[in-house]
Amino acid sequence: YGDFNQKIDYVFKVVLIGDSAVGKSQLLARFARNEFSLDSKATIGVEFQTKTLSIDNKTVKAQIWDTAGQERWKSLNVVPFYLSQEHMTFKINRYRAVTSAYYRGAVGAMLVYDMTKRQSFDHMAKWLEELRGHADKNIVIMLIGNKSDLGSLRAVPTEDAQEFAQRENLFFMETSALEATNVETAFFTVLTEIY
Ligand code: GTP
Ligand code: MG
Repeated sequence: YGDFNQKIDYVFKVVLIGDSAVGKSQLLARFARNEFSLDSKATIGVEFQTKTLSIDNKTVKAQIWDTAGQERWKSLNVVPFYLSQEHMTFKINRYRAVTSAYYRGAVGAMLVYDMTKRQSFDHMAKWLEELRGHADKNIVIMLIGNKSDLGSLRAVPTEDAQEFAQRENLFFMETSALEATNVETAFFTVLTEIY
């Protein structure tokens, strides 16, 4: 069956967040198209892809949003001395507008770190704070430790992430976009939980 005349029962917006290069875009490529690329370019601006799946006999259209891990709040931390008050106010307002547009209407979020990069895990608290500050309070959140195929380079023990997830009330899974491990399960868990 094609999805030509397919009736959609629900559309769920899910956002991907986390530092640059943790694998957000490749997780999305793997989930939406079953593709993976090793020389993937950093995302610029905001992109999204959809995938229609069936949950409990209902047709659910997942709309997954992806953005650059760098860009937004990082640019506010470094204020060049020559920046005028007006320009700084402009930057802050633009940050707020872009950030709230990204989270608006999201019912699920994937908080992604790279298990071989400790810093990307340490930044999870910061991302969670931004998420909680902008998203609906009932949003379903999944913490994802990506790149499990690079197990020998692991810098974040599973227990550390489990503990953080438990404390913050998040779902948690380790994935590999490269090997397609747990990618479908992670998205499916979030979508089922939303439903
Ligand atoms: P930004 O768009 O800059 O925020 O980065 P991103 O989080 O979207 O990262 P992206 O998906 O572009 O992946 C960054 C790099 O990590 C690329 O070289 C990917 O091929 C690689 N990568 C992504 N997922 C995996 C994975 O599961 N295993 C391995 N080994 N590499 C991965
Ligand atoms: Mg990207």
